[in-house]
Amino acid sequence: MRLDCFLSRNTDCSRKSVKKYILQSKVKINGTVCLDVSYKIKEDDVISLNDKVIDNIKNHVIALNKPENYISSMVDERYPSLMRLIDSKYHKTYRLVGRLDYDTTGLIFLTDNGILNARLTSPKYEIEKKYLVKVNHLLKDSLVSSFSEPNDIGRGEITKPAKLEIIDSKSCYITIKEGKYHEIKRLFGKYNYDVISLKRVSFGPIELKDLEIGKYRVLSEEEYISLLRSVKMKVEEYL
Ligand code: URA
Repeated sequence: MRLDCFLSRNTDCSRKSVKKYILQSKVKINGTVCLDVSYKIKEDDVISLNDKVIDNIKNHVIALNKPENYISSMVDERYPSLMRLIDSKYHKTYRLVGRLDYDTTGLIFLTDNGILNARLTSPKYEIEKKYLVKVNHLLKDSLVSSFSEPNDIGRGEITKPAKLEIIDSKSCYITIKEGKYHEIKRLFGKYNYDVISLKRVSFGPIELKDLEIGKYRVLSEEEYISLLRSVKMKVEEYL
């Protein structure tokens, strides 16, 4: 990849300003000033801008623990965008993987891998998403079998079977393999329950675990591979 391309992709600078910085001797490769905007970067090159090392952020997945009252959108609307919680260097090329409601918390991904993004959100790949749910009144055991059948949740939409695991009188886990609009709230609503709180605890092979609310981390290579494999993508093409 060319030096100007690398810098504009991995920082929030435009290609034009990157060129300017290179010509102003602000860019170094392995500690030496480089004035060649079209320099072809080698695997082990360490690139710095204003003496700050610039990491290659290409081809990653970020896991964020979404707080309440943020929206899964690239820009602010009625609530602030989740992008406010993410370093600006990711804003140009990273996109949210699907959506969570403004009042839902928990695991949401961002990635610059468009094919992975499309597959993770496609019902065709049946990726399991597990949520911790709190409801307003006593959970009946019969819900386990009701949810394991397809359910008509209105507007002509039928859910795929979901797995319900009751934890105690008003809390449970639900695992779904698709992401219809307000799917879980509508599913519980059908059986006269209000969802009081909803938190996504895992997405495919990745668990939220103890990631702090409002914080994010870049997935390890092993985790990235497991996500690629979960949607039948060729690992070698993306490392
Ligand atoms: N189902 C919902 O109802 N809301 C979410 O945010 C996710 C799944």
